[in-house]
Amino acid sequence: MGARFIGWGTGVPDRIVTNDELSLTLDTNDAWITERTGIKERRIGGTAKSLGVIAGNRALEDAGVEPENIDFLILATTTPDRIAPATAVLIAHEMGLSCPAMDLNAACSGFMYAVRTAYGLLETGNKRVLVIGSENLSRWVDWSDRNMAVLLADGAGATVLEYDPTENDLLSFSLGAEGADADLLTCEHEGFFQMDGAEVFRRAVRVVVDSAEKAMAMAGITSDDLSLVIPHQANIRIIQAACQRLNVEMDRAVVVLDRYGNTSSASIPLAFFDARENDRVHKGDYALLTGFGAGMTWASAVVRWSK
Ligand code: COA
Repeated sequence: MGARFIGWGTGVPDRIVTNDELSLTLDTNDAWITERTGIKERRIGGTAKSLGVIAGNRALEDAGVEPENIDFLILATTTPDRIAPATAVLIAHEMGLSCPAMDLNAACSGFMYAVRTAYGLLETGNKRVLVIGSENLSRWVDWSDRNMAVLLADGAGATVLEYDPTENDLLSFSLGAEGADADLLTCEHEGFFQMDGAEVFRRAVRVVVDSAEKAMAMAGITSDDLSLVIPHQANIRIIQAACQRLNVEMDRAVVVLDRYGNTSSASIPLAFFDARENDRVHKGDYALLTGFGAGMTWASAVVRWSK
């Protein structure tokens, strides 16, 4: 069986918050944030629903697909608008979809978990699945906490996956979860995100490398075959460390965190879209898509673009 990515879209707030602006209210500065994270600015605003609708509509338009042709909506989000109902249901209503819709929370691995779930749905009779990653992380940030405030941001990205009996973009997956690490990065109800940054950093590099190697082995390729690595955008130094261990030069990695910060489930589609805009996505090329996040969770996939 095959599943193909047939359209992509993004939705980000208009409001840009630079490092210099954060430095006006926090004991931090552009040099520290740039050197330690790679982030220069981020977008703040909107809700998981509002940004998700924009990204979802653009993905449908890009795919040339009408709302009635979507069989299932999966919204990857860590920051739903409400506990209930699922934000996916609100997005489906706004977009004019008439299909099942559900939220999926795997933190910053959410988009890749949703793609894996979509693949399973396509295997079992659905024709097209819309996957959206949408986050309103700024709502859950203590803006007086410089540890988190410089990292997290808002945004959305989406893709349409279509069943195809003859062609397949998704060659392999390697996903995992380790609940023993739950307290390393957490946000309580009515609370704010908190993190043991150094420990998350160490483990993130480990799980990205491990899951990427497993996914590449399953796909029968090595890192030499990769044209692109599209990683979750948390910290440039995590991306550099993982790429170094995988023997991938940084010019094969897609980096957008300088402009968007860490947008959790939205970061991989935002990075894909940027790569495509810059003519870095070519038919027949192999790419590694890899995410990691609170849980901890992780998810890598090897893709070969069919268009
Ligand atoms: N501005 C200025 N100084 C800051 C700062 C900020 N925003 N945040 C922390 N500092 C200070 C610390 O207080 C510390 O000061 P001290 O030496 O006087 O105690 C110093 O900078 C170094 O802090 P440290 O935590 O060792 O920095 P780091 O190099 O580990 O970078 C992170 C911190 C958070 C950027 C880094 O650990 C990281 O990115 N971790 C992974 C986080 C992540 O990706 N989470 C999401 C996963 S999905």
